[in-house]
Amino acid sequence: MALKSLKCTDFRCLRSVELSFGSQNNLIYGPNASGKTSILEAVGYLGRGRSFRGASTQELVRHDADEFVLFGRADNGSREESLGVRNSRAGLEVHTNGEKRNSAAALAEALPLQVIDPDIHSLIAGGPEDRRRYIDWIAFHVEHGYLDRWRRFRRALKQRNAALKSGASRQALSGWDQELAELGIDIDDVRRRMLDITRPALEEYGEALLGSQIDFEYQRGWAGEKTLLEALEGSTERDLQMGSTQPGPHRADIRLRYDERQAKKLVSRGQQKLLACALILAATDVVQTQLERPLLLLLDDPAAELDGDSLARLMGAVANLGSQVIATTLEPDRALFVEPPLLFHVEQGVVERAG
Ligand SMILES: Nc1ncnc2c1ncn2[C@@H]1O[C@H](COP(=O)(O)OP(=O)(O)O)[C@@H](O)[C@H]1O
Ligand SMILES: [Mg+2]
Repeated sequence: MALKSLKCTDFRCLRSVELSFGSQNNLIYGPNASGKTSILEAVGYLGRGRSFRGASTQELVRHDADEFVLFGRADNGSREESLGVRNSRAGLEVHTNGEKRNSAAALAEALPLQVIDPDIHSLIAGGPEDRRRYIDWIAFHVEHGYLDRWRRFRRALKQRNAALKSGASRQALSGWDQELAELGIDIDDVRRRMLDITRPALEEYGEALLGSQIDFEYQRGWAGEKTLLEALEGSTERDLQMGSTQPGPHRADIRLRYDERQAKKLVSRGQQKLLACALILAATDVVQTQLERPLLLLLDDPAAELDGDSLARLMGAVANLGSQVIATTLEPDRALFVEPPLLFHVEQGVVERAG
């Protein structure tokens, strides 16, 4: 899935930018605060309907402007898809192929992408939400109907939590338990399978990037040998006290296992970044194989926190993956890539093809 072009109006510091990307490697370079991350963030927003930096949609509108508009064309091998996003006072509007969509999922389907940015180590060092999102991204692309099940689970969870907060009776609560348990088991089952199909790729990228054996250990979000229904029923008192449902797949996490000698080194942010990169590349690889087409990989300042050797290993692994890459750097370093990139220079929010 290659992004062929991007048109971007009033997004962060970008007043009006039009770009045509190459189907393989693209490198955007320019000084600090010139707008490199903004371009990647615009691309990321077009494929996700949200910022990969976690910025609120409102702060992405250029100062002095009322709305931002993004438009892109993607080539998915058999046909071209158009994607459009407008964020105005009226809220977010999403279009794909000229039709209005009611959720960002349509964008994710048309332009599946992954991001490696200087914050990526938080996939390892941060809270479990990013790691759940990581598995769910694979599941969304690989397992038909996963998003629908996940949404139904979220809805039921919200209703049970509202009932808990209003001090509902045990009997009223048990009405939600059945539905939650059924949907929750389903989600759990899909996630487990997703990690199983990703495990060989994780081993491969762990070896390539860290020279280490890495494995996932999935924690499903409720204790012991109990079924989810038993866990929910057993947790009612505690849930009433806490005002929220404790057991369930919304509490799942992934632990990573690696050899002992590696564990000591993994306190460094550079090593955490490599580990996170191994996870991201493994997921990209698996989804590419399932969808039978290359995905888009956004690399914001890939050199950050990495020594020359580690960076070379990362870029070698990226090259083997064969994804479309859009990367940013301070200097136009062509040697970063195995195959020469298309170069774009950015200065004060203005982007031009270079060299
Ligand atoms: N909503 C906005 N409106 C205008 N400028 C913004 C907005 N958000 C961020 N900026 C500015 O955009 C500039 C470029 O940021 P960024 O894309 O992160 O630069 P780079 O990645 O090249 O270092 C920064 O000076 C930042 O202050
Ligand atoms: Mg930046």
